[in-house]
Amino acid sequence: MKTIKTLCVALLAAVALPTAAEEAPNITDEAAASTDTIDYGPTMGWSSWNTFALNINESTIKGQADAMVSKKLKDAGYNHINIDDGYFGGRDKTTGQLKIHPTRFPKGLKGIVDYIHSKGLKAGIYSDGGYNTCGSYHGGDTTGEGVGLYKHDQQDCDMFFKDLGFDFIKVDFCGGDPVHNKDRLDLDEKQRYTAIAQAIKNTGRKDVRMNICRWAYPGTWADDAGFSWRTTQDIQPTWASIKDILAQNLYMSAYCSKGHYNDMDMLEVGVSWGTPLTTEETKTHFGMWCIMNSPLLIGCNMKDLSTTNLTLLKNKDLIALNQDTLYQQAYLAQKTSNGCYIMVKDIEKRYGNKRAFAIYNPNDASKTVTLNFKDIDLADSVKLHDCFTKKNLTEKYLDTYKVSVPAHGTKIYVAEAQTRLERTRYEAETGYSKAYSEIQGNVCQYSEAAFCSGGYKAGYIGGSNKDNYLEWSNVYSQEGGDYQLTIGYICGETRTINVYVNSKKVKALSCNSGGWEKVGTQKLDIKLEPGENTIRLVNTSGWLPDMDYIDVVSKKVIARVDGIGTDSAIRQSAATYDLSGRKTSNAKGVVISNGKKYIKH
Ligand code: GAL
Repeated sequence: MKTIKTLCVALLAAVALPTAAEEAPNITDEAAASTDTIDYGPTMGWSSWNTFALNINESTIKGQADAMVSKKLKDAGYNHINIDDGYFGGRDKTTGQLKIHPTRFPKGLKGIVDYIHSKGLKAGIYSDGGYNTCGSYHGGDTTGEGVGLYKHDQQDCDMFFKDLGFDFIKVDFCGGDPVHNKDRLDLDEKQRYTAIAQAIKNTGRKDVRMNICRWAYPGTWADDAGFSWRTTQDIQPTWASIKDILAQNLYMSAYCSKGHYNDMDMLEVGVSWGTPLTTEETKTHFGMWCIMNSPLLIGCNMKDLSTTNLTLLKNKDLIALNQDTLYQQAYLAQKTSNGCYIMVKDIEKRYGNKRAFAIYNPNDASKTVTLNFKDIDLADSVKLHDCFTKKNLTEKYLDTYKVSVPAHGTKIYVAEAQTRLERTRYEAETGYSKAYSEIQGNVCQYSEAAFCSGGYKAGYIGGSNKDNYLEWSNVYSQEGGDYQLTIGYICGETRTINVYVNSKKVKALSCNSGGWEKVGTQKLDIKLEPGENTIRLVNTSGWLPDMDYIDVVSKKVIARVDGIGTDSAIRQSAATYDLSGRKTSNAKGVVISNGKKYIKH
């Protein structure tokens, strides 16, 4: 379970705060001018917080809009200029009208939004779900008291989106979380963010994106309210922070979909305070944010970007993975024996022959990784494109690819193979639970477990809550038919797993693996339909065991393996089958033996 975030208090303390609040200039009645069409990729742009904190003003914001254009970041896809905390100037005591900071933004915000729009960019704003902002509590910015959306949802949303014409809002939650506000106000996240989403809708604007900033995965209800949600505490410009955020997002692929993104927080690329990241760490940070489909909000002063960092931020190959129209977050396919993570996702076409994958090395020493292409469901003559160098590798690979990954480094490739195999391993950390939330107890949790495949397990499933299941809705079978399901679980006592395939109960399994750090397995036969199938594990009258993985293998493959004794015999006789058991005229058939898969050349 994640802990509540900490603010960069040192940074806030360093910021000079004004003492007096004055009337903001009049807000005009002009209708929102935005004519932008809706797109659905993760939000790209810039946000003021990571570098400027509360120390923002009109020239800072306009200057960054200028830099986004002149540095050609706009051409690379970055299109939001987001004002974070620090612009508030109290509320009018009679009308409740929100006021803008008198010295930081003496002319108000309308001119700034218009300026941003005039550059062909979108404008973002910030607020809080409670009364008080984070800056008011942690940064002593008294102008941030009483300015949050609470009790002003419609009034403020009308001002932001109808009067001023903002296109994006980040809604923080210090004001609703008693640990972070003087009033100790304790508000319900689901109720608040849902009400704010409704107030945004009421403005008539359909293109406004809301970022939910509750510093942990709030719950699947967020799909109906936000475009993205912060999953962790505040990012810092340190390797420890990047590594920690990655560790908490490697298991979140099931909670990403079109227009619904896990926000790993604003980028620290080019940020010069803190313990700046090394070149390899910076590449890992940006590359993984891309393949994991996080929003990409630049957090540095764009005017000061070095050529190396600018080139990285504009890397078209990486951005294409982030904005791919399958809208998928790479999922955890494997943790290697030397502690690296293989993350993979389809691009361009579901279950096609083209996939993007990352080999992420969080270790403090470089590691040599030998990737078996079968572990990312590819076979036969694989072509690789390196997304960092933007070059095709000249060689074509058959079974494996061996590469050295520097300490804290990442390699990211697009692979195109002759054969796409059916996935057989579905890690628990790629499963979905409707009840999943990191701000609520007694519901599904994913946690690191070194003894589990993938390095994670899922626990607290079931518990008499029908929504607290674990499910994979993407169990793909080309032709349908008979499959063997193997369930890898952890259970120090006897518990029941009810197995459902495509909403039909198949079996109740009684499970006890003989220890809470020991993985046990049970097998059962299931039938799959051609296309996508859903496998759900549930217990509505008690807890499920903790889950490590499920394996789903075609019976045709198993029949071949069971029937023949030696590898060479299999290799000879399996020439006309692929790994999924399908007949193939390809003489380079794929065979399986003792749980290992081979390609016959
Ligand atoms: C935090 C938030 C940061 C930043 C800050 C402003 O709660 O996570 O990203 O917006 O508030 O005070």
